[in-house]
Formats: sequence, C-alpha cells, structure tokens
Amino acid sequence: MPENFTYSQVQDYLAKLTPERPAELQKMEAYAQEHRFPIIGPAAGQFCYLMARLVSAQAVFELGSGYGYSTAWFARAVQENGGGVVHHTVWDETLSQMARQHLQVLGYDQMVQYHVAEAVQTLQETPGPFDLIFNDIDKAAYPDSLPVIEEKLRPGGMLIIDNMLSGGRIFDGDNTSPNVAGIHEFTRLITTSPDWVVSLVPIRDGLVVAQKRG
Ligand SMILES: C[S@@+](CC[C@H](N)C(=O)[O-])C[C@H]1O[C@@H](n2cnc3c(N)ncnc32)[C@H](O)[C@@H]1O
Repeated sequence: MPENFTYSQVQDYLAKLTPERPAELQKMEAYAQEHRFPIIGPAAGQFCYLMARLVSAQAVFELGSGYGYSTAWFARAVQENGGGVVHHTVWDETLSQMARQHLQVLGYDQMVQYHVAEAVQTLQETPGPFDLIFNDIDKAAYPDSLPVIEEKLRPGGMLIIDNMLSGGRIFDGDNTSPNVAGIHEFTRLITTSPDWVVSLVPIRDGLVVAQKRG
C-alpha cells in the first residue's frame, strides 16, 4: 500500500465526498469553526447517518449532544427510517436551547426529546431499549458509561463513540490526562469484552463502532 499520503489528506478527501448539507446545518458548522466548538463535523455526521440507516434506528440516545449538530444527523436517519425518537442530552441549558432552535428549523424538533442533565444518569433513567447509542461526553467518563449503555441497547444494537484517537494523544505514552486514560480504558474494556463486535473507524478523531451481540 502506498504510504506517501497523510492523515489530514484522507480527512480532507472524506470531507469533500460528503454531500452538501442544508443551510441550517452549514450554519451550525460555521458556528463551530468560529467558536472552536467540538462538533463531529460533516464526514463523521454522514457516517453516523449511514450507520443509523443501516440498523433501521428508530430509537436513538445521544450522550453529550452540544447544540444539536450530531443530533440532526441521527434525526434525519430516524425520520427516513419511518420516525421515532432521538434523545438530546447535555448539561448546559444554553446549548439545549440552541439545539431546540436549530432542530426546529431543520424540521426535526417533534422527534427530539431534550434533557438538560448529566447524560449517563439520564440514560440510566430513560426507558429503552435503544437501537443506537452515540456517546460524546467528557472522555474520562467513558469507562463508567459502558455498563449503562450495554444495559440500554437492544441486542444487535449499535454504539458509536467519538474521539477515540483524541487528536493523536493516545499514541503518547507519557500522556497521563484523565481524558486519555478514559479513552484507553474504554478501548480496553470494549475490545476485550465477549459481548461486543468492535471496530475503530478513523474518520476525523476516530469513531469506535460496536454492535452488542444478540
Ligand atoms: C463534544 S460536545 C458535543 C458535540 C455534539 N455531539 C456534536 O457533534 O454536535 C460535548 C458536549 O456535551 C457536554 N457534556 C460533556 N459531558 C457530559 C455529561 N456527562 N453529561 C451531559 N453533558 C455532557 C459538554 O459540555 C459539551 O457541551
């Protein structure tokens, strides 16, 4: 395999392959750039949309939803899958309000349930099961979220979890930050568990995609 291309070349190429988005989604992308807010971005969004279609997701739970950019991709899939629910969960009231406005303009508001609360606890308290769970909370909390996710996902359901490359920090053996430690521990837990079929997809900051065994 030729090795004379870079990670960022591949990422730029993936971004270019992503079809044009509605104006409101582009507005959300511009806001993220301007305010350096960490959204999943178009290529990972398109990938999440595809995954949600592939599992015919009609019940999605999102942990760490920000102002609703990733939510919009899942809502689009759920709508095309015949309708259902997407849970938007963030502990910041302002972000939740922003999400409500954006998702209303996009026409998904009726499908979305908003929670302003800690995400793992909210998942624990929300009746499932879910077809797809997306996790994008603070990375130090990833390991403790796994048992709750496993309990709430239906057999054959899909987990997608973001930032599993952590900007390359996972390759730095001297990095002892709680976030990087959380990513290492989560990776170890899920890849050694007999209950999951797992792969890491190197789109943007790395998405772990895992299916709960039936
Ligand atoms: C990376 S951003 C979310 C981006 C969003 N998924 C997207 O791609 O559009 C994570 C957001 O979740 C919030 N958050 C982090 N940990 C959380 C937790 N345990 N419970 C609720 N919200 C959390 C953060 O404050 C931030 O607003």
